[in-house]
Amino acid sequence: MENHIENAEKLRLEALSALEGVQDEKSLEDFYVAYLAKKGSIPGLMTHMREVEDKAAFGAAVNKARGDVTAAYEAKKASLAQKALQARLAKDKIDLTLPGEPMGVGHVNPYRLVIDEVIDIFLAMGYEVCEGRDVETDRFNFELLNVPKDHPSRDMQDTFYFGDDYLLRTQTSAAQAHKMTEMEPKRPIRMIAPGKAYRRDDDDMTHSHQFAQIEGLVVDKDISIAHLKATLELFAKRMFGQKREIRLRSSYFPFTEPSVEVDVSCFNCGGKGCAMCKGTGWIEILGAGMVNPRVLEACGYDPNVYSGFAFGVGVERVAMLRYGIDDIRRFYQNDQRFLKDFPLK
Ligand code: PHE
Repeated sequence: MENHIENAEKLRLEALSALEGVQDEKSLEDFYVAYLAKKGSIPGLMTHMREVEDKAAFGAAVNKARGDVTAAYEAKKASLAQKALQARLAKDKIDLTLPGEPMGVGHVNPYRLVIDEVIDIFLAMGYEVCEGRDVETDRFNFELLNVPKDHPSRDMQDTFYFGDDYLLRTQTSAAQAHKMTEMEPKRPIRMIAPGKAYRRDDDDMTHSHQFAQIEGLVVDKDISIAHLKATLELFAKRMFGQKREIRLRSSYFPFTEPSVEVDVSCFNCGGKGCAMCKGTGWIEILGAGMVNPRVLEACGYDPNVYSGFAFGVGVERVAMLRYGIDDIRRFYQNDQRFLKDFPLK
Protein backbone atom coordinates (compact mmCIF):
# COMPACT_ATOMS: atom_id res chain seq x y z
CA MET A 1 0.00 0.00 0.00
CA GLU A 2 1.22 3.50 -0.83
CA ASN A 3 2.54 5.56 2.06
CA HIS A 4 0.66 8.84 1.64
CA ILE A 5 2.41 10.52 4.52
CA GLU A 6 5.78 9.84 2.92
CA ASN A 7 4.41 11.02 -0.44
CA ALA A 8 3.36 14.31 1.11
CA GLU A 9 6.86 14.78 2.48
CA LYS A 10 8.41 13.85 -0.87
CA LEU A 11 6.15 16.32 -2.67
CA ARG A 12 7.13 19.00 -0.16
CA LEU A 13 10.84 18.45 -0.85
CA GLU A 14 10.28 18.18 -4.59
CA ALA A 15 8.37 21.46 -4.66
CA LEU A 16 10.99 23.27 -2.59
CA SER A 17 13.77 22.10 -4.85
CA ALA A 18 11.75 22.94 -7.99
CA LEU A 19 11.28 26.44 -6.57
CA GLU A 20 15.06 26.81 -6.30
CA GLY A 21 15.24 26.59 -10.07
CA VAL A 22 12.61 29.28 -10.66
CA GLN A 23 14.32 32.44 -11.95
CA ASP A 24 11.56 34.54 -13.51
CA GLU A 25 7.98 35.52 -13.00
CA LYS A 26 6.64 33.32 -15.75
CA SER A 27 8.12 30.10 -14.26
CA LEU A 28 6.97 31.23 -10.83
CA GLU A 29 3.46 31.42 -12.18
CA ASP A 30 3.82 27.91 -13.67
CA PHE A 31 5.15 26.68 -10.34
CA TYR A 32 2.14 28.07 -8.53
CA VAL A 33 -0.26 26.40 -10.92
CA ALA A 34 1.56 23.05 -10.62
CA TYR A 35 1.88 22.91 -6.83
CA LEU A 36 -0.23 25.42 -4.95
CA ALA A 37 -3.29 26.33 -6.99
CA LYS A 38 -6.61 24.68 -6.24
CA LYS A 39 -5.92 21.94 -8.77
CA GLY A 40 -2.19 21.80 -7.98
CA SER A 41 -0.51 18.70 -6.56
CA ILE A 42 -0.29 19.82 -2.91
CA PRO A 43 -4.01 20.56 -2.42
CA GLY A 44 -4.50 17.40 -4.54
CA LEU A 45 -2.97 15.32 -1.72
CA MET A 46 -6.19 15.72 0.22
CA THR A 47 -8.02 13.43 -2.21
CA HIS A 48 -6.22 10.58 -0.47
CA MET A 49 -7.62 11.38 2.99
CA ARG A 50 -10.17 8.60 2.79
CA GLU A 51 -7.53 5.93 2.12
CA VAL A 52 -5.22 7.04 4.97
CA GLU A 53 -5.38 5.41 8.39
CA ASP A 54 -3.52 7.96 10.50
CA LYS A 55 -5.53 10.90 9.30
CA ALA A 56 -4.06 13.31 11.86
CA ALA A 57 -0.48 12.58 10.85
CA PHE A 58 -1.39 12.80 7.16
CA GLY A 59 -3.22 16.07 7.68
CA ALA A 60 -0.23 17.49 9.51
CA ALA A 61 2.12 16.40 6.69
CA VAL A 62 -0.09 18.02 4.05
CA ASN A 63 -0.36 21.22 6.08
CA LYS A 64 3.39 21.31 6.52
CA ALA A 65 3.92 20.83 2.78
CA ARG A 66 1.40 23.58 1.98
CA GLY A 67 2.77 25.95 4.63
CA ASP A 68 6.45 25.52 3.76
CA VAL A 69 5.92 25.69 0.02
CA THR A 70 3.59 28.70 0.27
CA ALA A 71 6.12 30.56 2.44
CA ALA A 72 8.97 29.73 0.08
CA TYR A 73 6.80 30.74 -2.87
CA GLU A 74 6.02 34.13 -1.29
CA ALA A 75 9.68 34.70 -0.48
CA LYS A 76 10.64 33.88 -4.06
CA LYS A 77 7.96 36.16 -5.41
CA ALA A 78 9.25 39.04 -3.31
CA SER A 79 12.83 38.46 -4.30
CA LEU A 80 11.96 38.29 -8.01
CA ALA A 81 10.03 41.56 -7.75
CA GLN A 82 12.98 43.15 -6.02
CA LYS A 83 15.34 41.92 -8.74
CA ALA A 84 13.04 43.23 -11.47
CA LEU A 85 12.98 46.62 -9.77
CA GLN A 86 16.78 46.67 -9.49
CA ALA A 87 17.10 45.76 -13.14
CA ARG A 88 14.74 48.51 -14.18
CA LEU A 89 16.51 51.09 -12.04
CA ALA A 90 19.85 50.09 -13.52
CA LYS A 91 18.49 50.31 -17.04
CA ASP A 92 16.64 53.60 -16.56
CA LYS A 93 19.51 55.28 -14.87
CA ILE A 94 20.05 58.77 -16.26
CA ASP A 95 23.29 60.59 -16.09
CA LEU A 96 22.48 64.12 -15.05
CA THR A 97 26.00 65.23 -15.84
CA LEU A 98 25.64 64.50 -19.57
CA PRO A 99 25.32 67.64 -21.69
CA GLY A 100 21.70 68.29 -22.76
CA GLU A 101 20.31 68.68 -26.24
CA PRO A 102 21.15 72.20 -27.34
CA MET A 103 18.08 74.43 -27.73
CA GLY A 104 18.05 76.61 -30.81
CA VAL A 105 18.20 80.32 -30.11
CA GLY A 106 15.28 82.14 -31.70
CA HIS A 107 15.47 85.38 -33.62
CA VAL A 108 13.55 88.58 -33.28
CA ASN A 109 11.26 89.15 -36.24
CA PRO A 110 12.67 92.10 -38.24
CA TYR A 111 9.43 94.06 -37.92
CA ARG A 112 9.88 93.87 -34.16
CA LEU A 113 13.47 95.12 -34.52
CA VAL A 114 12.11 98.22 -36.23
CA ILE A 115 9.52 98.73 -33.48
CA ASP A 116 12.22 98.45 -30.81
CA GLU A 117 14.36 101.03 -32.59
CA VAL A 118 11.45 103.45 -32.92
CA ILE A 119 10.56 102.97 -29.25
CA ASP A 120 14.15 103.81 -28.26
CA ILE A 121 14.07 106.99 -30.32
CA PHE A 122 10.81 108.23 -28.84
CA LEU A 123 11.54 107.17 -25.27
CA ALA A 124 14.61 109.39 -25.50
CA MET A 125 12.26 112.27 -26.40
CA GLY A 126 10.13 111.68 -23.32
CA TYR A 127 7.27 109.72 -24.91
CA GLU A 128 5.51 106.89 -23.13
CA VAL A 129 4.67 103.59 -24.82
CA CYS A 130 0.99 102.62 -24.79
CA GLU A 131 -0.36 99.20 -25.58
CA GLY A 132 -3.67 99.68 -27.32
CA ARG A 133 -5.72 96.61 -28.18
CA ASP A 134 -6.22 94.45 -31.25
CA VAL A 135 -9.96 93.97 -30.78
CA GLU A 136 -11.64 97.34 -30.89
CA THR A 137 -15.09 98.85 -30.85
CA ASP A 138 -16.49 100.85 -33.72
CA ARG A 139 -16.41 103.87 -31.41
CA PHE A 140 -12.66 103.86 -30.80
CA ASN A 141 -11.56 102.66 -34.22
CA PHE A 142 -13.80 105.06 -36.16
CA GLU A 143 -16.30 107.31 -34.46
CA LEU A 144 -14.07 109.11 -31.97
CA LEU A 145 -11.61 109.59 -34.84
CA ASN A 146 -14.16 111.58 -36.81
CA VAL A 147 -15.19 108.69 -39.04
CA PRO A 148 -18.98 108.43 -38.60
CA LYS A 149 -20.90 105.33 -39.60
CA ASP A 150 -21.62 106.34 -43.20
CA HIS A 151 -18.21 107.90 -43.89
CA PRO A 152 -16.79 106.84 -47.28
CA SER A 153 -13.27 106.42 -45.92
CA ARG A 154 -14.53 103.34 -44.06
CA ASP A 155 -14.66 101.48 -47.34
CA MET A 156 -10.89 101.68 -47.69
CA GLN A 157 -10.46 100.17 -44.26
CA ASP A 158 -13.06 97.47 -44.42
CA THR A 159 -12.09 94.87 -41.90
CA PHE A 160 -12.92 91.87 -39.77
CA TYR A 161 -16.07 92.47 -37.72
CA PHE A 162 -17.48 90.47 -34.85
CA GLY A 163 -21.07 91.59 -34.93
CA ASP A 164 -21.88 95.29 -35.47
CA ASP A 165 -19.72 96.87 -32.82
CA TYR A 166 -16.54 94.84 -32.45
CA LEU A 167 -13.78 94.57 -35.01
CA LEU A 168 -10.07 93.97 -35.42
CA ARG A 169 -8.70 97.48 -35.42
CA THR A 170 -7.87 98.85 -38.84
CA GLN A 171 -5.37 101.35 -37.49
CA THR A 172 -3.38 101.92 -34.33
CA SER A 173 -5.00 105.38 -34.32
CA ALA A 174 -7.63 103.77 -32.10
CA ALA A 175 -4.98 103.95 -29.36
CA GLN A 176 -5.08 107.76 -29.63
CA ALA A 177 -8.76 107.77 -28.76
CA HIS A 178 -8.13 105.46 -25.80
CA LYS A 179 -5.32 107.58 -24.46
CA MET A 180 -7.25 110.82 -24.72
CA THR A 181 -10.56 109.56 -23.33
CA GLU A 182 -8.89 107.71 -20.47
CA MET A 183 -6.62 110.57 -19.42
CA GLU A 184 -8.14 112.10 -16.27
CA PRO A 185 -7.79 114.90 -15.51
CA LYS A 186 -7.04 116.01 -19.07
CA ARG A 187 -3.37 116.91 -19.35
CA PRO A 188 -0.60 116.85 -22.00
CA ILE A 189 0.16 113.57 -23.80
CA ARG A 190 3.28 112.27 -25.51
CA MET A 191 2.80 108.68 -26.50
CA ILE A 192 3.60 106.08 -29.09
CA ALA A 193 1.51 102.96 -29.55
CA PRO A 194 3.11 100.17 -31.56
CA GLY A 195 0.93 97.22 -32.51
CA LYS A 196 -0.89 95.26 -35.12
CA ALA A 197 -3.62 96.48 -37.43
CA TYR A 198 -5.87 94.51 -39.77
CA ARG A 199 -7.52 95.27 -43.08
CA ARG A 200 -9.47 93.21 -45.50
CA ASP A 201 -6.78 93.49 -48.17
CA ASP A 202 -5.91 91.06 -50.87
CA ASP A 203 -2.50 89.82 -49.80
CA ASP A 204 0.31 90.48 -52.24
CA MET A 205 3.98 91.52 -52.14
CA THR A 206 3.18 94.81 -50.43
CA HIS A 207 -0.17 94.15 -48.75
CA SER A 208 -1.01 91.88 -45.87
CA HIS A 209 -4.31 91.58 -44.04
CA GLN A 210 -2.27 91.92 -40.85
CA PHE A 211 0.50 94.44 -40.43
CA ALA A 212 2.16 96.58 -37.79
CA GLN A 213 1.96 100.31 -37.22
CA ILE A 214 3.40 102.72 -34.74
CA GLU A 215 1.05 105.48 -33.73
CA GLY A 216 2.35 108.69 -32.25
CA LEU A 217 0.35 111.35 -30.45
CA VAL A 218 1.29 114.62 -28.83
CA VAL A 219 -1.33 116.82 -27.18
CA ASP A 220 -0.39 119.97 -25.34
CA LYS A 221 -0.98 123.72 -25.32
CA ASP A 222 0.30 125.63 -28.38
CA ILE A 223 1.38 122.63 -30.43
CA SER A 224 1.89 123.64 -34.05
CA ILE A 225 2.85 121.94 -37.28
CA ALA A 226 6.41 123.14 -36.63
CA HIS A 227 6.57 120.70 -33.70
CA LEU A 228 5.32 117.92 -35.95
CA LYS A 229 7.90 118.66 -38.59
CA ALA A 230 10.82 119.00 -36.17
CA THR A 231 9.88 115.80 -34.36
CA LEU A 232 9.58 113.74 -37.53
CA GLU A 233 12.81 115.18 -38.90
CA LEU A 234 14.64 114.12 -35.75
CA PHE A 235 13.03 110.71 -35.99
CA ALA A 236 14.04 110.31 -39.66
CA LYS A 237 17.64 111.26 -38.95
CA ARG A 238 17.93 108.89 -35.98
CA MET A 239 16.23 106.08 -37.89
CA PHE A 240 17.70 106.46 -41.36
CA GLY A 241 20.88 108.51 -40.90
CA GLN A 242 21.97 112.06 -40.07
CA LYS A 243 21.96 113.17 -43.72
CA ARG A 244 18.26 112.42 -44.21
CA GLU A 245 15.75 115.16 -44.86
CA ILE A 246 12.00 114.99 -44.84
CA ARG A 247 9.31 116.65 -46.88
CA LEU A 248 5.60 116.98 -46.19
CA ARG A 249 3.00 116.52 -48.90
CA SER A 250 -0.57 117.44 -48.23
CA SER A 251 -2.95 114.55 -47.76
CA TYR A 252 -6.20 113.61 -46.09
CA PHE A 253 -7.12 111.70 -42.93
CA PRO A 254 -10.44 112.28 -41.16
CA PHE A 255 -8.75 112.57 -37.76
CA THR A 256 -6.07 115.11 -38.69
CA GLU A 257 -6.41 118.60 -40.15
CA PRO A 258 -4.29 119.49 -42.00
CA SER A 259 -3.00 116.05 -42.98
CA VAL A 260 0.30 115.17 -44.60
CA GLU A 261 2.23 112.28 -46.06
CA VAL A 262 5.82 112.36 -44.94
CA ASP A 263 8.65 111.34 -47.25
CA VAL A 264 12.26 110.82 -46.26
CA SER A 265 15.11 111.44 -48.69
CA CYS A 266 16.18 108.09 -50.09
CA PHE A 267 18.65 106.39 -47.79
CA ASN A 268 19.79 104.15 -50.61
CA CYS A 269 20.90 106.78 -53.15
CA GLY A 270 20.93 109.84 -50.90
CA GLY A 271 18.29 111.54 -53.06
CA LYS A 272 19.82 111.19 -56.54
CA GLY A 273 17.18 108.69 -57.62
CA CYS A 274 17.41 104.89 -57.70
CA ALA A 275 15.24 101.79 -57.97
CA MET A 276 14.31 101.91 -54.29
CA CYS A 277 12.87 105.42 -54.50
CA LYS A 278 11.63 104.79 -58.04
CA GLY A 279 13.86 107.57 -59.32
CA THR A 280 12.21 110.27 -57.20
CA GLY A 281 14.82 110.57 -54.45
CA TRP A 282 12.07 110.34 -51.82
CA ILE A 283 10.48 107.45 -49.94
CA GLU A 284 7.09 107.73 -48.25
CA ILE A 285 7.27 106.45 -44.67
CA LEU A 286 4.28 107.73 -42.73
CA GLY A 287 1.02 109.62 -42.53
CA ALA A 288 0.58 112.48 -40.07
CA GLY A 289 -1.19 115.69 -39.28
CA MET A 290 -2.51 118.06 -36.66
CA VAL A 291 -5.11 116.38 -34.46
CA ASN A 292 -8.52 117.37 -35.79
CA PRO A 293 -10.26 119.64 -33.22
CA ARG A 294 -13.34 117.43 -33.54
CA VAL A 295 -11.27 114.46 -32.33
CA LEU A 296 -9.91 116.44 -29.39
CA GLU A 297 -13.42 117.46 -28.49
CA ALA A 298 -14.92 113.98 -28.88
CA CYS A 299 -12.20 112.63 -26.60
CA GLY A 300 -12.79 115.24 -23.91
CA TYR A 301 -10.03 117.79 -24.66
CA ASP A 302 -11.02 121.45 -25.12
CA PRO A 303 -9.77 122.37 -28.63
CA ASN A 304 -9.58 126.02 -27.60
CA VAL A 305 -6.97 125.10 -25.02
CA TYR A 306 -5.25 122.07 -26.50
CA SER A 307 -3.81 121.20 -29.87
CA GLY A 308 -1.72 118.29 -31.01
CA PHE A 309 -0.18 116.26 -33.79
CA ALA A 310 -0.32 112.58 -34.66
CA PHE A 311 1.47 110.22 -36.99
CA GLY A 312 1.31 106.61 -38.06
CA VAL A 313 4.31 104.65 -39.35
CA GLY A 314 3.93 101.50 -41.43
CA VAL A 315 6.40 99.18 -39.73
CA GLU A 316 6.84 96.45 -42.33
CA ARG A 317 7.36 99.05 -45.02
CA VAL A 318 10.22 100.58 -43.04
CA ALA A 319 11.66 97.12 -42.33
CA MET A 320 11.42 96.15 -46.00
CA LEU A 321 13.27 99.27 -47.10
CA ARG A 322 15.78 99.03 -44.31
CA TYR A 323 16.65 95.33 -44.77
CA GLY A 324 15.91 94.91 -48.47
CA ILE A 325 12.98 92.52 -47.91
CA ASP A 326 10.96 92.02 -51.08
CA ASP A 327 7.71 90.49 -49.86
CA ILE A 328 5.63 91.62 -46.87
CA ARG A 329 4.23 88.11 -46.39
CA ARG A 330 7.63 86.92 -45.21
CA PHE A 331 7.12 88.64 -41.87
CA TYR A 332 4.29 86.30 -40.96
CA GLN A 333 5.34 82.94 -42.36
CA ASN A 334 7.60 81.92 -39.48
CA ASP A 335 10.20 80.65 -41.89
CA GLN A 336 13.37 80.07 -39.88
CA ARG A 337 15.55 80.52 -42.96
CA PHE A 338 14.23 84.06 -43.26
CA LEU A 339 14.20 84.91 -39.57
CA LYS A 340 17.72 83.69 -38.86
CA ASP A 341 19.10 86.46 -41.08
CA PHE A 342 18.13 88.95 -38.38
CA PRO A 343 20.21 88.12 -35.32
CA LEU A 344 19.60 89.54 -31.90
CA LYS A 345 20.90 93.03 -31.47
N1 PHE B 1 -4.11 105.79 -39.30
C1 PHE B 1 -3.54 106.21 -40.55
C2 PHE B 1 -3.49 104.99 -41.47
O1 PHE B 1 -3.60 103.88 -40.99
C3 PHE B 1 -2.16 106.76 -40.37
C4 PHE B 1 -2.17 108.04 -39.57
C5 PHE B 1 -1.98 108.05 -38.23
C6 PHE B 1 -2.35 109.28 -40.23
C7 PHE B 1 -1.99 109.22 -37.49
C8 PHE B 1 -2.35 110.46 -39.53
C9 PHE B 1 -2.17 110.43 -38.17
O2 PHE B 1 -3.32 105.12 -42.66
